[in-house]
Amino acid sequence: MRIDILCLFPDMFTSPFEQSIIKRAKESNLLNIVTHNIRDYTHDSHHTVDDYPYGGGPGMILKPEPIFELAETIQHGVDTDNMPIVLLTPQGKLLTQKIIRDLALQPHLILICGHYEGIDERVHEHLATDEISIGDYVLSGGELAAMVMVDAITRLIPGVLGSEESAKDDSHSNGLNGLLEYPQYTRPATYRSWSVPPILLSGNHEKIAQWRKRQSILRTATRRPEMLQQVILSCEEKSWISERSLNQN
Ligand code: ADE
Repeated sequence: MRIDILCLFPDMFTSPFEQSIIKRAKESNLLNIVTHNIRDYTHDSHHTVDDYPYGGGPGMILKPEPIFELAETIQHGVDTDNMPIVLLTPQGKLLTQKIIRDLALQPHLILICGHYEGIDERVHEHLATDEISIGDYVLSGGELAAMVMVDAITRLIPGVLGSEESAKDDSHSNGLNGLLEYPQYTRPATYRSWSVPPILLSGNHEKIAQWRKRQSILRTATRRPEMLQQVILSCEEKSWISERSLNQN
């Protein structure tokens, strides 16, 4: 997979992309990330990337020309049909694991990081195919949001995670059918008088799977009840969870 990132601060990506899973994905040629400085595509002697807003008002707006020119340079000679060009903006669609799963299937993505007060509307209208926000808060720029996306996408590229690290049972994954992940424990079996649930030491895989599923449901019901609306539960699971909720109230 290739990801091109258009931004004003490419150095921000250096360390995060040289660690852990992303580093490994790059080293095994499963991922090629190219960061570009929008400023390199300006033509005036001051390398101006922004300007005052038409109509007045505070702040500066990123100019469209260097962004279009840079994106078109990347697209030159490449099959751009269906290539997502994602603009990171607090006004975008909220990022979900479903969006990440869809993007991870693409061979080539372009991510555009906005900055300052805003970006010329023509970039939204005539260049970006998608606009994504990583949460309802405002960052100083799209770089951190692009890092979040690249990290989440990289884990889903086939071959990046070993079978031991599989993303199958992650919270929000298809493997857990939209439920949050169940609680996990490791040795020691008792730490400061806090013991691991005995079922996990029983060796009974069927019972362990049932316990984990129920814990996932309970966790989702208490922490993210709105997520449970999308999940299909068996009658037995429904009655178990309603008994539990009654006991907790
Ligand atoms: N740029 C600034 N804030 C952002 C956010 N919440 N998500 C994506 N890009 C952003």
